[in-house]
Amino acid sequence: MSSDELNAVACAIVAGHKGILAADESGSTIKKRFDSIKLESTEETRRRYRELLFTTEGIESFIGGVILYDETLRQSTHDGMSFAELLLKRGIVPGIKVDQGAKPLALHPGEKITEGLDGLRERLAEYKLLGAKFAKWRAVIEIDERDIPTRYGIHANAHALARYAALCQEAGILPIVEPEVLMDGEHDIARCEAVTSQVLEAVFTELSAHRVRFEDMLLKPNMVIAGKKCAQQASVQQVAEATLRCLKRYVPAEVPGIIFLSGGQSAEDATDHLNAMNTMGPHPWPVSFSYGRALQAPVLAAWQGQEDNVAAAQKAHLMRCRLNSLACAGEYARTMEGPDHP
Ligand code: 13P
Repeated sequence: MSSDELNAVACAIVAGHKGILAADESGSTIKKRFDSIKLESTEETRRRYRELLFTTEGIESFIGGVILYDETLRQSTHDGMSFAELLLKRGIVPGIKVDQGAKPLALHPGEKITEGLDGLRERLAEYKLLGAKFAKWRAVIEIDERDIPTRYGIHANAHALARYAALCQEAGILPIVEPEVLMDGEHDIARCEAVTSQVLEAVFTELSAHRVRFEDMLLKPNMVIAGKKCAQQASVQQVAEATLRCLKRYVPAEVPGIIFLSGGQSAEDATDHLNAMNTMGPHPWPVSFSYGRALQAPVLAAWQGQEDNVAAAQKAHLMRCRLNSLACAGEYARTMEGPDHP
């Protein structure tokens, strides 16, 4: 794919206030999600769950892309259509998580480095044949009182993100660059802003050094938010202002879209924060979503692994997708929550 085509894929994903459904949980992460509804994680239960998500009628109006996991990209609907083909037919762009998870960073206790660069060129070529048009790589940055993250921890992760993004562009696959500053911990919103700033600065410096074209990527950042255990939680307005301030300082206007991760926020909070940012526009880039938990938690709760609950689960799914798309337009209100709202 040429540069123009990669940019077109990025723009198509976020056009019309659409966002991404992150359904790329690894085997161990989806097991945790299924444990919460007491469902055994098998290849078939995972396939049935992803089929429920991808066949929900109407989501194509709100969802421009879906991130898949390796196993899911190789799976099909019960009547034999590959998930990638199904999504493409519905006008939704299929993508693939290509990192192989965050492992402890040697000699840096408390920090992690994402692995998966070795052999990535060959894996990208195969994923392209299987229908993936974009890829995702997640770097994980933890905040801790003990001078964590270190400068080196940030640099190592930014460097790996840039090597991944360059390999994607070489392969003609759109890279989603995801540096996630975790919301675990006791830090306040100011510390999150300082660390997120350092991380974004390092990421764009490395992307530039690796000759990655900013117009041919999407950025998937965390919002600037207080740690879950911080006594002083910030208001919706404060989160929106701090997040935009930080992004506007460090993210070039050439980037065709910002698609936030939800990172452990409740479904309602993630939508509310996104909405608040979009009431404060215009911004240099579309400000949208690429949520995993914030889209799927209500679906799993409604489904409970039961065939009889599929319709209710798909209804919950469609509603979350629609509310987040409204938030991309700055037209969401908390009063729209609840089963009876149209
Ligand atoms: P969450 O929205 O649950 O953070 O997941 C998004 C994602 O893709 C994490 O890599």
